Amino acid sequence: MRQQIVAGNWKMNTTIAEGLELARAVAEKVQNPRGAVVFGTPATHLESVGQAIKGYEHLYIAGQNCHQEAKGAYTGEISADMLVSAGATYVIIGHSERRQYFKEDNEMLAKKVDIALQKGLIPIFCCGEPLEIREEDTHVSYVSSQLEASLYHLTEEQFSKIVIAYEPIWAIGTGKTASSAQAQEMHFEIRKALAGKYGATVADATPILYGGSCNATNAAELFGQPDVDGGLIGGASLKADDFVTIINALK
Ligand code: 13P
Repeated sequence: MRQQIVAGNWKMNTTIAEGLELARAVAEKVQNPRGAVVFGTPATHLESVGQAIKGYEHLYIAGQNCHQEAKGAYTGEISADMLVSAGATYVIIGHSERRQYFKEDNEMLAKKVDIALQKGLIPIFCCGEPLEIREEDTHVSYVSSQLEASLYHLTEEQFSKIVIAYEPIWAIGTGKTASSAQAQEMHFEIRKALAGKYGATVADATPILYGGSCNATNAAELFGQPDVDGGLIGGASLKADDFVTIINALK
């Protein structure tokens, strides 16, 4: 069975002390998770949270972004090497908030994926449509073109490291979750598109996470869908008990 993952995206929340308390509480409560558990902390927290979860099997830390260049005069930016040196295993790339507020486009994201892979990070590549695209019923082709533009230059070997997160923008932070049928439909379509490009074996092995108002109540139904391999969790990842319930909802 392909790998399952529950990744928390803390976004711009928590002080280091609060983040440590949260990560420790989760680490203590999680028993034998059925997949990888990832804390996408603010960059300032990575090292200390990484230390705090050391020794707990299946727990990892992730950057929420990295710059597309290896290093240089990019004030305020964080490189893939820096994330690696802080102990990160994963990096979230192309979150819709980065696309929207920081004008990250498909081409830039392709470069971020490249540098992340080159430095040994596992990209959690986000895709997903805004509400108007969903209402027009063109979400499948919209998401397929996001994948094509930022990932399809990768070789099969490179692509086999990628984790996809499908996050419909209309469901992020809105309390409005995609139904399990909507999530399954899109995940199935994503896997079909990946199979068309990289073949069925690679597509079958690619974890595809759902994100967007996934919470302790709806996680089990979402994760129960055959093509949903876990979740990328925003708000509910900031509450230890809720996050643990979500982790325990993995199949
Ligand atoms: P919410 O779970 O708060 O809707 O956020 C989802 C998300 O953006 C995770 O990356």
